[in-house]
Amino acid sequence: MSTALVTGATAGIGLAFCRELAERGHDLVLVARDRARLENVSDELSATYKVGAEILAADLSDRAQVQRVADRLADATRPVDLLVNNAGFGMSHSFLGGDLADEERMLDVLCRAVLVLSRAAALPMRARGHGAVVNVSSVAGFAPMGTYAAAKAWCTAFTEVLAAELVGSGVTATALCPGFTHTELHARADLDMSRLPDFLWLEADRLVRDCLDDVSAGKVVSVPGAQYKLLVAALQVLPRGLVRRASGTVASVRRRHG
Ligand SMILES: NC(=O)c1ccc[n+]([C@@H]2O[C@H](COP(=O)([O-])OP(=O)(O)OC[C@H]3O[C@@H](n4cnc5c(N)ncnc54)[C@H](OP(=O)(O)O)[C@@H]3O)[C@@H](O)[C@H]2O)c1
Repeated sequence: MSTALVTGATAGIGLAFCRELAERGHDLVLVARDRARLENVSDELSATYKVGAEILAADLSDRAQVQRVADRLADATRPVDLLVNNAGFGMSHSFLGGDLADEERMLDVLCRAVLVLSRAAALPMRARGHGAVVNVSSVAGFAPMGTYAAAKAWCTAFTEVLAAELVGSGVTATALCPGFTHTELHARADLDMSRLPDFLWLEADRLVRDCLDDVSAGKVVSVPGAQYKLLVAALQVLPRGLVRRASGTVASVRRRHG
């Protein structure tokens, strides 16, 4: 039986990954900050799917705690075959309107932790000749809409670099780029999503299954949902000036409406 380590395992997309992977027979290592929620998820997975569900409580904005997760990934006696770097959060304020400390924390979780944990997982996977890394990025990374989008652009570009380095090794790297998905993220960031049209919402369970199909197919960038595949294709061919102007308009409307 293989083992998957999922960060941000207690809610939203990460929890959907855990349930789907447990159903497919993977043992899990669950990472997030809230230990009580981790214990609930662990109990649910082991009772429902009869898999092992180890808990690793860690705040991925803290370097020492990221290192504890990296050490678990590098432990040759308990190999991890799939890493899902999923933990993340959004912010409702603009770059100049918010605190620099929040921006640094976001980079630590969305970028630095992804960098450190990808390396800690990919080195032993490459030595064993098999494994997969999934980095949960975002469609936002294809448009300049705030520093969250900038961090996700880095995540997608970094994953492409990692995938290129791993070609022929038996190990794959995939950037999962979802659009708006029903999770706890928007409420936690105090983002008002009431005006978002229904057709733009994705469901976490479905996008996780689609992503795992893309991982099996060796895809480097996985964009779930026909509407977002079309949007990403358009964003990649439209003149960048136009994309910047449209993104700026959307961002200012969102800030005006809270
Ligand atoms: N929802 C969307 O519309 C959407 C769209 C595109 C991409 N994404 C990306 O999808 C990923 C998952 O987000 P989600 O929407 O599923 O959010 P969510 O429902 O709010 O879940 C976030 C998870 O990350 C954990 N987490 C947050 N900060 C952490 C930290 N500092 N250290 C360790 N764990 C932390 C949370 O647990 P604790 O609070 O207990 O730590 C929770 O398990 C994120 O990378 C997000 O950027 C989401």
